[in-house]
Amino acid sequence: MNLISNETLQPFDFVLFGGTGDLAIRKLIPALYFRHCEGQLPDDGQIISIGRTGYGTSEYRQMLDDKVREHIEDKEFDAQSWQEFLERVHYCSIDVTSVASYAPLAELLKGRDDHVRVFYLSVAPDLFNAVTHGVHASGLITENSRVTLEKPLGRDQATAEQINDNLAAVFKESQIYRIDHYLGKETVQNLLALRFGNALFEPLWRNDRINDVQITIAESLGVEGRGAFYDETGALRDMVQNHLLQLLVIIAMEPPASIDPDAVRDEKIKVLRALKPLVGIDAIENSVRGQYKAGAYSSGPVPGYLDDKDVADESNTETFVALKAEIGSWRWEGVPFYLRTGKRMESKTTEIVINFKKVPHSIFDTADGFNTPNQLIIRLQPQESIRMRIYVKAWGDDIQLQPVYLNLDFNDVFQKRKLIAYERLLLDVIRGNPTLFMRRDEVAAAWAWIDPIRAAWEQYQYPTRGYTAGTWGPSAANALISKDGLRWNED
Ligand code: BG6
Repeated sequence: MNLISNETLQPFDFVLFGGTGDLAIRKLIPALYFRHCEGQLPDDGQIISIGRTGYGTSEYRQMLDDKVREHIEDKEFDAQSWQEFLERVHYCSIDVTSVASYAPLAELLKGRDDHVRVFYLSVAPDLFNAVTHGVHASGLITENSRVTLEKPLGRDQATAEQINDNLAAVFKESQIYRIDHYLGKETVQNLLALRFGNALFEPLWRNDRINDVQITIAESLGVEGRGAFYDETGALRDMVQNHLLQLLVIIAMEPPASIDPDAVRDEKIKVLRALKPLVGIDAIENSVRGQYKAGAYSSGPVPGYLDDKDVADESNTETFVALKAEIGSWRWEGVPFYLRTGKRMESKTTEIVINFKKVPHSIFDTADGFNTPNQLIIRLQPQESIRMRIYVKAWGDDIQLQPVYLNLDFNDVFQKRKLIAYERLLLDVIRGNPTLFMRRDEVAAAWAWIDPIRAAWEQYQYPTRGYTAGTWGPSAANALISKDGLRWNED
């Protein structure tokens, strides 16, 4: 799978709007630094950070020096390489809503039209149009330009379409890279490798062998200073519309004919379109909304969602969602996909569990009556692993079956630094490989499935259920799955 290689990139200008923001400091700058250390950035590859703060380049570099360091582990930090990396970084203070203020950026880009030019929009979505207009009106968009957008792309299908229309007025679709950072995670790409690099799983990957699929993205963090944004957004838009649906799609898609970007994305979109709509009362019966209350972890107590100063007093925004989804296709008819995500849950755990069917007829005794079927558990976080649960005979003179795990821990196998998701994605933008990015029609199809769920929540004034921080979410989420005779995998 040629999704990343160590070739040196073409000369580039990486224009980072939101260069003083949290994402730039925690993820984007460290990601570029790591690729610099790997020798992958060409000598003529510069990073131009844009922000409102009136820094000069040397003050900005100083700020990075102060703030980025804590996001790079000691063993991965090399003082000399860091200083060399900082030499690549420039800063322009720009009011993105005023075309006149793009002049210093134009100056830095002058005579460099033959370079790959990336406009990375790590800014609030309500500034997307201003930036697009600003770079266009300043004559900065070249044939070699690409634009990268962070989610959320709109609040619903209509607003996403507006953003996409505005982008389409100045960029070609092939120049637009819509990021979902989950697609940059190693294990997500390993899912593609697992499914399409091995003949073993394909005959099992269907409704006569698989009973149900569970996808969990649990976080232990709360809204962490993003209360105002989050309160307007909620978990359905923040996590389900993008990350959870992307994981579902990669599990459920048909084998593409090749790893070409459009071959992969053509298969992904078929799954999104085959999701059975959850409309009206169906949406209510197949979803649970939750909101965390104060609770405690081993590190100490944490406040509830409503205690956040930026959250509205009586807010009914969900910090947790569980859903039962179904895909109408020959392969998946009758297989429920249970999705759940939440903040302030027991631990940071992202995993996909494929539960296979029980044996049709048992000739053995088992301690659990074969109630725990064969499972394939693909864990993305915290440690990346693939585990397969099978029954074996326990040692002893009687024949008693017991479930055990075949365990593949990626840290043990590869014993090297794992790329952070953004490293791969930023390089893919520079080298022009859109395989791991969302096409316009994919974003629209994801919203088309999400919008009726939100509409039903509004129509029925569907409340959020409280759950204590540090737990696995509201008990209603257990009821959602137990009414089908199943339970969430929480082993
Ligand atoms: C982001 C969401 O897209 O993903 C955040 O906006 C969430 O709310 C984050 O915390 C989770 O990402 P990860 O990689 O830490 O699982």
